[in-house]
Amino acid sequence: MNHDIVEKNLGIMFALIVVVITLGGLAEIVPLFFLKQTTEPIAGLKPLTALQLEGRDIYIREGCNTCHSQMIRPFRSETERYGHYSVAGESVYNHPFLWGSKRTGPDLARVGERYSDEWHRAHLFNPRDVVPESNMPKFPWLFENKLDGKLTGKKLATLKLLGVPYSDEAIANASEQVKGKSEIDALVAYLQQLGTVLRDKR
Ligand code: HEC
Repeated sequence: MNHDIVEKNLGIMFALIVVVITLGGLAEIVPLFFLKQTTEPIAGLKPLTALQLEGRDIYIREGCNTCHSQMIRPFRSETERYGHYSVAGESVYNHPFLWGSKRTGPDLARVGERYSDEWHRAHLFNPRDVVPESNMPKFPWLFENKLDGKLTGKKLATLKLLGVPYSDEAIANASEQVKGKSEIDALVAYLQQLGTVLRDKR
Protein backbone atom coordinates (compact mmCIF):
# COMPACT_ATOMS: atom_id res chain seq x y z
CA MET A 1 0.00 0.00 0.00
CA ASN A 2 2.70 2.47 0.97
CA HIS A 3 4.36 1.80 -2.33
CA ASP A 4 1.32 3.23 -4.10
CA ILE A 5 2.01 6.57 -2.51
CA VAL A 6 5.58 6.58 -3.80
CA GLU A 7 4.63 5.45 -7.28
CA LYS A 8 1.96 8.08 -7.68
CA ASN A 9 3.96 10.98 -6.29
CA LEU A 10 6.90 11.96 -8.51
CA GLY A 11 8.35 14.38 -5.95
CA ILE A 12 8.63 11.75 -3.23
CA MET A 13 9.89 9.13 -5.68
CA PHE A 14 12.63 11.46 -6.94
CA ALA A 15 13.71 12.30 -3.38
CA LEU A 16 13.84 8.62 -2.46
CA ILE A 17 15.82 7.77 -5.63
CA VAL A 18 18.39 10.40 -4.67
CA VAL A 19 18.63 8.96 -1.14
CA VAL A 20 19.13 5.40 -2.44
CA ILE A 21 21.76 6.39 -5.01
CA THR A 22 23.62 8.49 -2.43
CA LEU A 23 23.75 5.70 0.14
CA GLY A 24 24.72 3.14 -2.51
CA GLY A 25 27.45 5.39 -3.84
CA LEU A 26 28.86 6.06 -0.39
CA ALA A 27 28.83 2.35 0.44
CA GLU A 28 30.85 1.60 -2.69
CA ILE A 29 33.27 4.52 -2.77
CA VAL A 30 34.12 5.41 0.84
CA PRO A 31 35.72 2.05 1.77
CA LEU A 32 38.19 2.55 -1.12
CA PHE A 33 39.79 5.45 0.77
CA PHE A 34 40.73 3.06 3.55
CA LEU A 35 42.09 0.21 1.42
CA LYS A 36 45.74 -0.19 2.42
CA GLN A 37 46.54 -1.80 -0.91
CA THR A 38 45.86 1.46 -2.74
CA THR A 39 46.96 4.05 -0.19
CA GLU A 40 50.15 2.56 1.32
CA PRO A 41 53.53 2.65 -0.45
CA ILE A 42 54.90 -0.74 -1.54
CA ALA A 43 57.90 -2.07 0.40
CA GLY A 44 61.13 -0.29 -0.52
CA LEU A 45 59.49 2.73 -2.15
CA LYS A 46 61.44 5.94 -1.56
CA PRO A 47 60.53 9.52 -2.42
CA LEU A 48 62.36 10.88 -5.48
CA THR A 49 65.69 12.55 -4.77
CA ALA A 50 65.90 16.30 -5.43
CA LEU A 51 67.58 15.68 -8.80
CA GLN A 52 65.05 13.01 -9.84
CA LEU A 53 62.21 15.33 -8.84
CA GLU A 54 63.58 18.12 -11.04
CA GLY A 55 63.84 15.49 -13.80
CA ARG A 56 60.19 14.65 -13.34
CA ASP A 57 59.25 18.32 -13.73
CA ILE A 58 61.29 18.49 -16.95
CA TYR A 59 59.50 15.33 -18.14
CA ILE A 60 56.17 17.13 -17.60
CA ARG A 61 57.41 20.41 -19.10
CA GLU A 62 58.59 18.70 -22.29
CA GLY A 63 55.32 16.82 -22.63
CA CYS A 64 56.92 13.36 -22.51
CA ASN A 65 53.73 12.17 -20.83
CA THR A 66 51.66 13.13 -23.87
CA CYS A 67 53.32 10.33 -25.86
CA HIS A 68 54.32 7.92 -23.07
CA SER A 69 52.06 6.30 -20.48
CA GLN A 70 53.36 5.05 -17.13
CA MET A 71 50.78 2.38 -16.51
CA ILE A 72 51.29 -1.29 -17.36
CA ARG A 73 47.93 -3.04 -17.43
CA PRO A 74 47.56 -6.57 -16.04
CA PHE A 75 47.38 -8.27 -19.45
CA ARG A 76 49.84 -10.81 -20.76
CA SER A 77 50.57 -8.75 -23.88
CA GLU A 78 51.65 -5.88 -21.62
CA THR A 79 53.52 -7.75 -18.90
CA GLU A 80 55.53 -9.77 -21.46
CA ARG A 81 56.69 -6.55 -23.04
CA TYR A 82 57.07 -4.16 -20.12
CA GLY A 83 57.33 -6.29 -16.96
CA HIS A 84 55.21 -6.50 -13.80
CA TYR A 85 51.92 -4.64 -14.14
CA SER A 86 51.69 -1.30 -12.31
CA VAL A 87 50.31 -1.34 -8.77
CA ALA A 88 48.76 1.62 -6.92
CA GLY A 89 51.32 1.46 -4.09
CA GLU A 90 54.10 2.43 -6.53
CA SER A 91 52.42 5.76 -7.26
CA VAL A 92 51.50 7.03 -3.81
CA TYR A 93 54.28 9.66 -3.83
CA ASN A 94 53.40 10.92 -7.32
CA HIS A 95 51.59 14.26 -7.42
CA PRO A 96 50.18 14.48 -10.03
CA PHE A 97 50.07 10.94 -11.42
CA LEU A 98 51.51 10.44 -14.90
CA TRP A 99 49.70 7.18 -15.71
CA GLY A 100 48.10 8.30 -18.99
CA SER A 101 46.71 6.05 -21.69
CA LYS A 102 48.02 7.64 -24.90
CA ARG A 103 50.92 5.64 -26.29
CA THR A 104 52.59 7.20 -29.28
CA GLY A 105 55.77 5.73 -27.82
CA PRO A 106 56.16 2.74 -25.48
CA ASP A 107 55.03 2.70 -21.85
CA LEU A 108 57.81 3.92 -19.55
CA ALA A 109 56.53 2.65 -16.17
CA ARG A 110 59.48 0.20 -15.88
CA VAL A 111 62.06 1.72 -18.19
CA GLY A 112 64.43 2.37 -15.25
CA GLU A 113 67.78 0.56 -15.56
CA ARG A 114 66.75 -1.03 -18.87
CA TYR A 115 69.19 1.16 -20.82
CA SER A 116 72.44 2.84 -19.81
CA ASP A 117 72.64 6.54 -18.98
CA GLU A 118 74.66 6.98 -22.19
CA TRP A 119 71.88 5.38 -24.24
CA HIS A 120 69.28 7.77 -22.78
CA ARG A 121 71.51 10.79 -23.40
CA ALA A 122 72.14 9.78 -27.02
CA HIS A 123 68.45 8.95 -27.50
CA LEU A 124 67.21 12.26 -26.07
CA PHE A 125 69.82 14.25 -28.03
CA ASN A 126 68.58 12.70 -31.25
CA PRO A 127 66.43 9.53 -31.11
CA ARG A 128 67.36 8.61 -34.72
CA ASP A 129 71.00 8.12 -33.67
CA VAL A 130 70.06 4.99 -31.69
CA VAL A 131 66.63 4.01 -33.08
CA PRO A 132 66.76 4.80 -36.83
CA GLU A 133 62.99 4.42 -37.39
CA SER A 134 62.06 6.59 -34.38
CA ASN A 135 59.68 9.51 -34.78
CA MET A 136 60.27 10.83 -31.26
CA PRO A 137 61.28 14.51 -31.20
CA LYS A 138 64.82 15.48 -30.15
CA PHE A 139 65.54 17.48 -27.01
CA PRO A 140 69.05 18.94 -27.53
CA TRP A 141 68.44 21.97 -25.28
CA LEU A 142 68.37 19.72 -22.20
CA PHE A 143 72.16 19.43 -22.60
CA GLU A 144 72.65 23.20 -22.40
CA ASN A 145 70.11 24.26 -19.77
CA LYS A 146 71.34 24.20 -16.19
CA LEU A 147 69.28 23.94 -13.02
CA ASP A 148 69.54 26.79 -10.53
CA GLY A 149 67.80 24.91 -7.72
CA LYS A 150 66.00 28.01 -6.50
CA LEU A 151 62.63 26.31 -6.14
CA THR A 152 63.75 22.75 -5.45
CA GLY A 153 63.47 22.99 -1.66
CA LYS A 154 59.99 24.47 -1.97
CA LYS A 155 58.96 21.64 -4.28
CA LEU A 156 60.03 19.04 -1.72
CA ALA A 157 58.32 20.97 1.09
CA THR A 158 55.07 21.14 -0.89
CA LEU A 159 55.16 17.41 -1.58
CA LYS A 160 55.75 16.85 2.12
CA LEU A 161 52.49 18.68 2.81
CA LEU A 162 50.82 16.17 0.50
CA GLY A 163 52.21 13.26 2.50
CA VAL A 164 55.52 12.46 0.79
CA PRO A 165 57.95 11.67 3.63
CA TYR A 166 60.79 14.13 2.95
CA SER A 167 63.01 14.88 5.94
CA ASP A 168 63.78 18.47 6.91
CA GLU A 169 67.38 17.72 6.02
CA ALA A 170 66.44 16.60 2.49
CA ILE A 171 64.46 19.81 2.03
CA ALA A 172 67.31 21.97 3.33
CA ASN A 173 69.87 20.30 1.04
CA ALA A 174 67.67 20.08 -2.06
CA SER A 175 68.87 23.22 -3.73
CA GLU A 176 72.57 22.38 -3.27
CA GLN A 177 72.05 18.93 -4.77
CA VAL A 178 70.71 20.14 -8.08
CA LYS A 179 72.41 23.52 -8.53
CA GLY A 180 74.58 23.62 -11.64
CA LYS A 181 73.51 20.16 -12.86
CA SER A 182 72.22 20.08 -16.42
CA GLU A 183 68.62 19.28 -17.24
CA ILE A 184 69.63 16.09 -19.03
CA ASP A 185 71.28 14.79 -15.82
CA ALA A 186 68.03 15.36 -13.93
CA LEU A 187 65.82 13.79 -16.60
CA VAL A 188 68.00 10.68 -16.95
CA ALA A 189 68.14 10.31 -13.15
CA TYR A 190 64.34 10.39 -13.13
CA LEU A 191 64.01 7.85 -15.97
CA GLN A 192 66.50 5.44 -14.40
CA GLN A 193 64.43 4.93 -11.24
CA LEU A 194 61.08 4.38 -12.99
CA GLY A 195 59.48 1.15 -11.86
CA THR A 196 62.64 -0.32 -10.35
CA VAL A 197 61.16 -1.14 -6.91
CA LEU A 198 58.89 -3.89 -8.21
CA ARG A 199 61.28 -5.02 -10.91
CA ASP A 200 62.72 -8.00 -9.01
CA LYS A 201 59.38 -9.75 -8.89
CA ARG A 202 59.10 -9.81 -12.66
C1 HEC B 1 55.72 12.82 -30.16
C2 HEC B 1 55.75 11.68 -29.25
C3 HEC B 1 56.90 11.55 -28.27
C4 HEC B 1 57.33 12.46 -27.32
C5 HEC B 1 56.82 13.89 -27.06
C6 HEC B 1 58.35 11.79 -26.58
N1 HEC B 1 58.54 10.53 -27.04
FE1 HEC B 1 59.78 9.13 -26.26
N2 HEC B 1 59.30 7.84 -27.74
C7 HEC B 1 58.39 8.08 -28.75
C8 HEC B 1 58.41 6.97 -29.69
C9 HEC B 1 57.56 6.86 -30.94
C10 HEC B 1 59.36 6.03 -29.20
C11 HEC B 1 59.77 4.68 -29.84
C12 HEC B 1 60.97 4.89 -30.77
C13 HEC B 1 62.23 5.21 -30.01
O1 HEC B 1 62.69 4.38 -29.18
O2 HEC B 1 62.78 6.31 -30.19
C14 HEC B 1 59.88 6.60 -27.96
C15 HEC B 1 60.81 5.97 -27.14
C16 HEC B 1 61.24 6.44 -25.93
C17 HEC B 1 62.08 5.72 -24.99
C18 HEC B 1 62.56 4.28 -25.16
C19 HEC B 1 61.53 3.35 -24.53
C20 HEC B 1 61.82 1.89 -24.72
O3 HEC B 1 61.28 1.11 -23.91
O4 HEC B 1 62.55 1.53 -25.63
C21 HEC B 1 62.32 6.54 -23.93
C22 HEC B 1 63.12 6.22 -22.68
C23 HEC B 1 61.63 7.79 -24.21
N3 HEC B 1 60.99 7.69 -25.42
C24 HEC B 1 61.67 8.89 -23.37
C25 HEC B 1 61.07 10.12 -23.68
C26 HEC B 1 61.25 11.31 -22.89
C27 HEC B 1 62.03 11.39 -21.61
C28 HEC B 1 60.53 12.29 -23.51
C29 HEC B 1 60.41 13.75 -23.12
C30 HEC B 1 61.66 14.48 -22.98
C31 HEC B 1 59.89 11.70 -24.68
N4 HEC B 1 60.25 10.39 -24.76
C32 HEC B 1 59.04 12.39 -25.53
C33 HEC B 1 57.57 9.19 -28.85
C34 HEC B 1 57.69 10.35 -28.09
